[in-house]
Amino acid sequence: MNKHGGYDDQPIMAELYDLVPGYAKRTDIDFYLQCCVAAGGSILELGCGTGRILLPAAEAGCRVTGLDVSPHMLAQCQQKLQRKSHSVQSRVRLVHGDMTNFDLAELFHLAIVPFRAFQHVIAVDDQLTCLRRINRHLSTRGQLILDVFQVDLKKINNPRATEESEDFAEYELPDGRRLRRASRLAALHPADQVNDVELIYYLTNLDGTTERIVQAFPFRYIFRYEMEHLLARCGFRVIDLFGNFDKSPLADNSPEMIFVAEKCENLD
Ligand SMILES: C[S@@+](CC[C@H](N)C(=O)[O-])C[C@H]1O[C@@H](n2cnc3c(N)ncnc32)[C@H](O)[C@@H]1O
Repeated sequence: MNKHGGYDDQPIMAELYDLVPGYAKRTDIDFYLQCCVAAGGSILELGCGTGRILLPAAEAGCRVTGLDVSPHMLAQCQQKLQRKSHSVQSRVRLVHGDMTNFDLAELFHLAIVPFRAFQHVIAVDDQLTCLRRINRHLSTRGQLILDVFQVDLKKINNPRATEESEDFAEYELPDGRRLRRASRLAALHPADQVNDVELIYYLTNLDGTTERIVQAFPFRYIFRYEMEHLLARCGFRVIDLFGNFDKSPLADNSPEMIFVAEKCENLD
């Protein structure tokens, strides 16, 4: 099981990521785009993946450095970047690296960790190292914005979640292949706040054969005050906490926890 999300288990994972209909439609794109434009300086995206947020931000005029641990996700992002104008390309830097251990020798106005990428960091020591690295890469009063899902206690430890259930129905890809996806929790580890997730892609090729491709990874869940304590230990002050990408405040039934934190302390 890949501790970084399993995006490199097979080269096709990065292509499949961009074929998930729900990802392209997520409202987080507009939210992060607004934050990036408002930051008005250089931006660091940790876990930038295939550029779902990074590329629109660069197209909107932002200078963005994207760091990702997966060479396949970065290659997919690079391919898409090459189809953009020279000015967009000139505003993007892609770096292969681990968000728990990076040194870019540059200061940023804003760091973002979209679409729950921080939940791929499992151990507390790694979470702390990651947030401290981010702190050191931010200019004075620079901001960090990251989202994690809000834990629903009824769902998170549901033993029935070990059964496969459909994420999206089969649809036809532009090249005639067909794709559907299911998911399940292969194992629950409540004491560690970790679930072993499986995203199960069924790809039917033009010759009629169907491949079952499984992306398996441990996923950490994080509670509200746990995240606030982590941020405080790493020189950040939470200035906003949203429950969804429409900027509504966190409520009992909010699906997300979106932390907007300001660097309030320089770490040595
Ligand atoms: C859910 S995807 C999000 C991608 C992109 N931010 C988006 O919103 O579409 C999570 C990404 O985090 C990356 N990732 C996981 N662990 C990482 C780590 N320790 N350092 C850097 N990237 C990591 C994965 O390779 C993957 O590209």
